[in-house]
Formats: sequence, structure tokens, C-alpha cells
Amino acid sequence: MAYLEIRDLFVHFRQKRGGLFGSTIDTIRAVDGVSFEVERGEILGLVGESGCGKSTLSRTVMQLQRPTHGQIILDGENLTALPGYQVRRRRLDFQMVFQDPYASLNPRMTVFATLAEAIRQRHPGASGQVLAGRVATLMETVGLDPRFQKKYPHEFSGGQRQRIAIARALAPEPKLIIADEPVSALDVSIQSQILNLLKRLRKDFDLTMIFISHDLGVVRYLADRIVVMYQGKIVESGEAESVFRSPQQPYTRKLLEAIPSMIH
Ligand SMILES: Nc1ncnc2c1ncn2[C@@H]1O[C@H](COP(=O)(O)OP(=O)(O)OP(=O)(O)O)[C@@H](O)[C@H]1O
Ligand SMILES: [Mg+2]
Repeated sequence: MAYLEIRDLFVHFRQKRGGLFGSTIDTIRAVDGVSFEVERGEILGLVGESGCGKSTLSRTVMQLQRPTHGQIILDGENLTALPGYQVRRRRLDFQMVFQDPYASLNPRMTVFATLAEAIRQRHPGASGQVLAGRVATLMETVGLDPRFQKKYPHEFSGGQRQRIAIARALAPEPKLIIADEPVSALDVSIQSQILNLLKRLRKDFDLTMIFISHDLGVVRYLADRIVVMYQGKIVESGEAESVFRSPQQPYTRKLLEAIPSMIH
């Protein structure tokens, strides 16, 4: 059985458009009939051009957005049918890492406070001593010096901030991590360090990952399997290497041609 199963998922937004003679309602089909599976321990790469629905899909999987239709089945449990309090309990099992760590970290909280808060989600009664130990271990895990735990996000570089965001995602001991463009805002020289970190964490913590990126070069490096989205639909999916070696759909070929480094 797949760890995560997305079945016939639709997420539509209704948008009012004002005109001179009254308004009309547009339907935006952000996710339009998507089904796929993620195996335990796998890194699934989700790719497609801007606006094709990648973030909406991931927010819906995270239960931050209600689907218009369809099911999200995690480890055999249909999340879309669960009452709110049970969804909150299951949500600890999946965490997100976003593109801009500066926006996703609270600027008024030290690294210690940020990580301690995330640890307490799983262990509400953790003592100060346990928290101190866990925070130090988490920082070491993501390659940060624990001596910096009393510093604030602005005192770190972009790459270090993304390491803090990754540590925060790991803190509640999740099983699934959804990373939405986690290296797109970083210098190219830093990108590979963060990608290597994610690769290592997947192995060390037995994580399942959905890795979203518009950069197919980055996805090729990390993903076991790839799902290509276009205008809310899946147009191609398969083993990463075979999709890269012999893309079946013209849209995938176009995406691949857009990566300069891969033509050579
Ligand atoms: N809350 C919302 N209300 C209305 N429309 C929305 C909402 N969220 C997303 N959309 C629309 O849904 C479509 C898909 O957006 P989404 O952010 O999921 O794309 P994306 O693939 O993540 O793009 P990018 O690569 O730029 O991050 C877009 O047309 C977007 O404008
Ligand atoms: Mg997005």
C-alpha cells in the first residue's frame, strides 16, 4: 500500500470579476482531477511551470486547503473524511519547507524558541533540559552550530535560515515532508548543500518527501519519481531517470529543453 494516495483531487477557486454591468464569477481550476501515489521513503518530484497548481496541491495535501472533490489517503487513513481535531493530530506527521525561509520564520523568535515550539507540538510536556538537548541535536543534524541558538533569523545567511526552517520541520518528528521550491531563493552555490542535506535526512530519518520545483535540474538530482503538472492536471509521471531520458509528452520535452545545462 502506498504511504500517500491522492485520488481524483480537484481544487477550484471561485473568483468574482467586476464589470461595468455587474460581476461574473470565474472558476479557477488550480488542481483539476489529479491522482498519484507516493511510496514510503520515496522522494517524489513535482514539476511544472508557474501557476500550474503545485502549491495548491501541496497545501491541500497538508490540509491547509479543503479540496473541492477527491481524497487524500495517508497511511490508509482518509484525511478528507476526518474531523478537524483528528486532522490536527495527523498533521504532525507531515511538515512543510517553503521557498523563502525569511518569510516563514518568525523574526522575533530565536532559533531556540522556534525549535522548542515545534518540538512541543509532539511533546507538550518536554522539560527545559529535554528541549535544550533536542534543540542542540536538531541544529547539529542540519549543520548549524548549536552555540547560535540564541540568535534571530536575520543574523543568519539565506542558506543557514533554510537550515533552520528544515530543523523546524524535523522537530515534530514527521514522516512526510513537502518542500515547495526550497532552494529557489538561494544562491546556486548554496543550493547543492541544501539538496544534499535533504537527501541525507531522507535516509537518516526514513522520510517520505514531495519535492516541488520548476527547476528540473534540481529535481533530477533528488527525485526517485516525477510527476509533471500542466494547468492543474498531470501530463506525465514515471521513474525520474526514464522521464528525463525519454519524456513521452511534448510539454515535458519543452520543460526539459528549457534547462540549459541539460542540453549538453
Ligand atoms: N486562494 C486562491 N484564490 C484564487 N486563486 C488561487 C488561489 N491560490 C492559487 N490560485 C490560483 O491557482 C492557480 C495555481 O496556483 P499555484 O500557486 O498552486 O501554482 P504553482 O504551480 O505553485 O505556481 P508557482 O510555480 O508560481 O509557485 C493559479 O492560477 C493561481 O492564481
Ligand atoms: Mg507555488
